[in-house]
Formats: sequence, structure tokens, C-alpha cells
Amino acid sequence: MHLPAILETDLLWPDEAAAQATADKLAAALLPSPNAVIELHGPLGAGKTTFTRLLLRALGVQGRIKSPSYAVMESYELPGGGTASHFDFYRFGDPREWEDAGFRDVFAAPGLKLCEWPEKAAGQLPPADLQLHIDLLPDDRRQVHVAGLARLVKALSCA
Ligand SMILES: Nc1ncnc2c1ncn2[C@@H]1O[C@H](COP(=O)(O)OP(=O)(O)OP(=O)(O)O)[C@@H](O)[C@H]1O
Ligand SMILES: [Mg+2]
Repeated sequence: MHLPAILETDLLWPDEAAAQATADKLAAALLPSPNAVIELHGPLGAGKTTFTRLLLRALGVQGRIKSPSYAVMESYELPGGGTASHFDFYRFGDPREWEDAGFRDVFAAPGLKLCEWPEKAAGQLPPADLQLHIDLLPDDRRQVHVAGLARLVKALSCA
């Protein structure tokens, strides 16, 4: 059996421009047909939604990018084709909602899935292709631990 190689790396984001640079690299690695499950871990205010917005913009999404806190999911058509779905599972509780809201179908179909608070949907989510663990340092910088498919982690760790 061939298992995909998993790699890990650590990044430091002194400011939003650094997060932008990571988002640009990730977008380039995901194109032309973004198809991945990406988990965004970290406490309230860590920068999960901010990074998601930067990534969606780098993938060419225009117009408003709302935080999906209340709707749980916001989906976007990508200009190059395909779909990106942004989830915030913070208020996700009832596992029946997984079926009722159609999330099972979304995860069964190709496309990019970006998941904030994935731990709140543990047991439902398929294995991630990439995990970002964002920690907020006291001086407002972000320490980011990245783990996942070697191809994606390598794309983020190169200068
Ligand atoms: N990389 C960054 N560098 C500097 N400031 C940032 C960065 N990312 C986010 N921020 C700031 O932190 C605030 C909170 O970020 P954001 O809403 O993305 O957090 P979150 O992790 O999605 O939180 P929640 O768990 O509530 O969804 C933003 O309004 C922004 O001002
Ligand atoms: Mg958020």
C-alpha cells in the first residue's frame, strides 16, 4: 500500500503580509483545480478567517467573503472552475446537521474545503490534506505549525 508522505514545518507570520505570502504559495500549489481538505486550528482571533480570505482572494474569488459563523458554510465558484467551501464549525453540534445541511455531499465531491474549528466536527470530517495550527503570540505575531501532504507543505516552506 502506498501512503502519501506527511511533512511538517513551522512558519512565523509577523503581520498579515506574511500570511498573504503563505496564502499565495498555497494557492499556487492548489491550482489549477483546487481539491483538498484544509483544517485551520487555533483559538478565537488567531487568524483562521483572515487566512481563508487571503487564500480565496489568491484563488481569484472576488466580492464579499463573509465569515461563515452563522451559516456554517459559505461556498464560492472559483474563476478557473470548481468550488471552494469555507466552513466554521464553532457552533456545529448536531451530527444530523451533517446530513441535513448537505455537508456529506460537499465533502464527497471534488473541490477545496477550508474548515475552521474542525475539532467541533471530529468524526464527520474526512482526513485533512493540510492542517494549519495558528497560535497568537503576545506581541500579535502568529506562530503557525503546518502538517500535511508533502507536496503542499513543501510549497509553503520554500522561501
Ligand atoms: N496574520 C495576521 N497578522 C496580523 N493580524 C491578524 C492576522 N490574522 C488575523 N489578524 C487580526 O486578528 C483578527 C481576528 O482574526 P480572524 O477573524 O481571522 O480570527 P479567527 O481565527 O477566524 O477567529 P474565530 O475563531 O473567532 O473565527 C482580525 O480582525 C485581524 O485584525
Ligand atoms: Mg473565524
